[in-house]
Amino acid sequence: MGWATCDSFVHITGQIILSLWRVRRFGQLPDLYFGREQSQAKHDILERYLTPFANKILSCRYWESLDFIDGFAGPWENNDHENLRDTSIGISLRTLEAVAESRNHDPSRKKIRCIFNEAKASSYAQLEVYAEKVRREFQHVEILTFKGKFEDDSARIKAASTNLFQLIFVDPTGYTGFPPSSLGPFAGRSSEIIVNMMRSFITRFVASEREDRKKP
Ligand SMILES: C[S@@+](CC[C@H](N)C(=O)[O-])C[C@H]1O[C@@H](n2cnc3c(N)ncnc32)[C@H](O)[C@@H]1O
Repeated sequence: MGWATCDSFVHITGQIILSLWRVRRFGQLPDLYFGREQSQAKHDILERYLTPFANKILSCRYWESLDFIDGFAGPWENNDHENLRDTSIGISLRTLEAVAESRNHDPSRKKIRCIFNEAKASSYAQLEVYAEKVRREFQHVEILTFKGKFEDDSARIKAASTNLFQLIFVDPTGYTGFPPSSLGPFAGRSSEIIVNMMRSFITRFVASEREDRKKP
């Protein structure tokens, strides 16, 4: 076996082992997340967090009902266009529907609502089509969609979010972030916020040597 062939063999074997590790580790088809490892990690954390969190809120007599608010919902860079399995939309719906079913919720008296907000027109159009399609499939979860910037829509979203506990997922693109004032309307409610940011961006800007970032 020549060096080039041997090199290819090692490379291919490495890819197979990596793919098997991904399937084992995340239980997902690796193709869905190929080149999107950060999204895979984010979705894995979201999925694993939602089940115990929702069970805790729904079993507490003070709350008993939950709104999951996805302020920057997408879909975004997904490979599964049919079922959106690799998006926070698909993951939250599947996970929360399973929680409601396991708790024997009555579909005619829904205790869980998912509110998806998206600014980009083409992504919102896909979100709308998907929401319309799956309302029958996810019978235990009410689905609402909003089109616009989260900072502009947050007051309207809060008004629609009438369940007793709100879990707000803030997942903007890139490092420009979002105005924290957009969370203002939710003040005073029983709520929890998950903010997803790329740590490398934060580190890069905090550690920046730019003159205007140096202390006087
Ligand atoms: C990183 S993606 C999030 C995808 C989704 N949360 C997920 O995990 O599958 C961010 C999304 O927010 C949208 N977006 C960007 N700025 C926004 C804003 N100000 N308000 C609402 N959506 C925004 C983008 O179009 C994009 O679809």
